[in-house]
Amino acid sequence: MQKSKIIITGGCGYIGSHTAVALQQSGFKVLIIDNLSNSQENVLDKIADITGIKPDFEKADCTNPISIKDIFSKNNDAVGVIHFAALKAVGESVAHPIMYYKNNLNSLMNILENMVEFNIPNLVFSSSACVYGEPEKLPVTEQTPLQPATSPYGATKVMGETIIKDTVRAHPELNAIQLRYFNPIGAHPSGKIGELPNGVPNNLMPYITQTAAGIRERLSIFGNDYPTHDGYCVRDYIDVNDIADAHIDAIQYMIKNNPGIETFNLGTGRGLSVMELIKAFESANNIKINYTIAERRPGDVPELWAISDLANQKLGWAAKRSLEDTLKSAWQWQKNVSGLK
Ligand code: NAD
Ligand code: WQD
Repeated sequence: MQKSKIIITGGCGYIGSHTAVALQQSGFKVLIIDNLSNSQENVLDKIADITGIKPDFEKADCTNPISIKDIFSKNNDAVGVIHFAALKAVGESVAHPIMYYKNNLNSLMNILENMVEFNIPNLVFSSSACVYGEPEKLPVTEQTPLQPATSPYGATKVMGETIIKDTVRAHPELNAIQLRYFNPIGAHPSGKIGELPNGVPNNLMPYITQTAAGIRERLSIFGNDYPTHDGYCVRDYIDVNDIADAHIDAIQYMIKNNPGIETFNLGTGRGLSVMELIKAFESANNIKINYTIAERRPGDVPELWAISDLANQKLGWAAKRSLEDTLKSAWQWQKNVSGLK
């Protein structure tokens, strides 16, 4: 039987590469489109090492109408598109808003236009917990009202969801699932793929692993006087492989149910403070992290975690990796990248 083809934009990146592995292991054929602005082409070989299959690859920019039209016209047998391609650094987006709006929104509109033109019916969109801003009530569900975005990056996700909703309304033959990821962490258990931040990491997990590896002298914890149970910010850290699995469930759900547009939170339902995450990392890996308490980081909300019951009911999805395994995979990946034993 011929395998169903999925186009993954941004498939050489952190979440995309894990999703490509999971898709291939579930029997899908994968075509990756990536401009390699935040990733490397050798990820394709790593995916092949894990799955035995090297995904098809087109090096292209999703904002480029000519190249995307050409790729979609040659691949109009695809059953779906998973659209990861985006710039994602919150601070950078504040400094370079136009770059973020151009890249993230033009990519999305170009992809949608070509899905309509070439009758590719199913889209999964990478949305984000940041669409909830600072919610009045926790944990957040999909019914929790969205808040004005606190950064241009966040705005591209809020606007992206609106663009998709309007497009599906105008083209009922199109289905779309918007997945709001909370804080993805960890790496593939093989240690072959993981997160590769450019320069100094903004996110907590890679900062922790780079500190453990001696690349950073110490981790600065941004604030210890938040109105939370221990004074540190609380987030919903979720294994990247659990996030990857949800994309397969989403594609299969759309193929089966033709649902129009739906939106799901992807979290664990467990809020962990920065200090709790550090302590869990230390105990999972038997290593000490050097840290210091620093000023609050502007824009950080005190607490954010999610109920993902809807994804469980409709997609049959739930986060299932243990925190300990996730933190071990993060450290294993860092050790491999740093050439440590
Ligand atoms: P990533 O940077 O590792 O991967 C994104 C990939 O997209 C990269 O390989 C990059 O080269 C590519 N890309 C960017 N712009 C492109 C363009 N115009 N054309 C072609 N390729 C392009 O990021 P990630 O962490 O894997 O995130 C994937 C998606 O998930 C993004 O949309 C991001 O906004 C969203 N998201 C990420 C997180 C997170 O914490 N990692 C949380 C919520 C949502
Ligand atoms: C987590 C916690 C920091 C670094 C971001 C985006 C969000 C989504 C996920 C894309 C916070 C603290 C961090 C450090 C620290 N991405 N921290 N020292 O801010 O929850 O979410 O990534 O969509 O949109 O905003 O994640 O990993 O940056 O921070 O103390 O060096 O760790 O204050 O409480 P965040 P993060």
